[in-house]
Amino acid sequence: MKNIDKYAEPSNGIDRYAVLGNPIAHSKSPQIHAAFAKQTSQNISYEAILVPLDGFEATVRDLIAKGYKGANVTVPFKLEAYLRVMNKPSGRAMDAEAVNTLLFSDEEIGGDNTDGTGLVRDIKQNLGVNIANKRVLLLGAGGAAEGVLHPLLEESPTLLVIANRTLDKARSMVKKVLVKDKYRAFNLTSNAFDDIAHQQFDIVINATSAGLTDATLPIPDSVFAPNCLAYDMMYGRETPFMRQAKEAGTTVADGLGMLVEQAAEAFFIWRGVRPQTAPVIAMLRNN
Ligand code: ATR
Repeated sequence: MKNIDKYAEPSNGIDRYAVLGNPIAHSKSPQIHAAFAKQTSQNISYEAILVPLDGFEATVRDLIAKGYKGANVTVPFKLEAYLRVMNKPSGRAMDAEAVNTLLFSDEEIGGDNTDGTGLVRDIKQNLGVNIANKRVLLLGAGGAAEGVLHPLLEESPTLLVIANRTLDKARSMVKKVLVKDKYRAFNLTSNAFDDIAHQQFDIVINATSAGLTDATLPIPDSVFAPNCLAYDMMYGRETPFMRQAKEAGTTVADGLGMLVEQAAEAFFIWRGVRPQTAPVIAMLRNN
């Protein structure tokens, strides 16, 4: 990890990238991108930069001036990256109203969001679970949930319910989506946690930050249908949600695969090469 005023001068022939966040010490992104670069023989460097909370825009300008080619953006700067820093959003960035991948060129700063694509790829390709025609429950209505909602809908689940502690936030998420022509016919609803007790789902995704404080979510085991996949977007620890699902006999996945898949999509945007993710997921699991 480096501070913005401490990182090295550009080196010839190597395209430079970084992940920007605060905190950032825990980030696995440098390891992931180093593995992708080795695997695909791309001559790049990738570092983690701790950005002061009031210094995101200045940091990006500085990176551009130093010749960096792009950056990943993580907590808490994804919204700021979208609203104030990039000037060419992708459709995915506009849907999520947040940016986790920046692409620098002479003319513009491109902004994309690969989180939702990463989640969908992990569920479908790595875990072998189709989302089409499934009943999906999305827990949470914060930035993490917003970032994955549209890519989940694109998979055509039969039903997608957003449940959140603060019902109004789930409601406004649903409202924002249903005004779009493309999604008007979707079976998309919002519920308080109390209201999902009598429903069953094939895929339950925890996009709340409750796991960070080891908080239990007030959901009954009955939400997990037979053969359900319980997916926690968090990784690196077993959350109470994961424990509950496991004890209820449900298949459980953490968010490590999503992390690697969103990184692979960013790598593809930058380099035009799609790395293999399975060996990198396996490497991180064995660490
Ligand atoms: P993130 O970027 O991780 O999504 P966020 O935007 O602050 O962070 O959103 C956190 C989400 O986790 C919200 O949906 C929040 O619920 P509220 O909207 O009611 O605040 C949810 N969350 C956090 N702690 C929770 C807890 N202990 N129980 C239930 N939901 C929780």
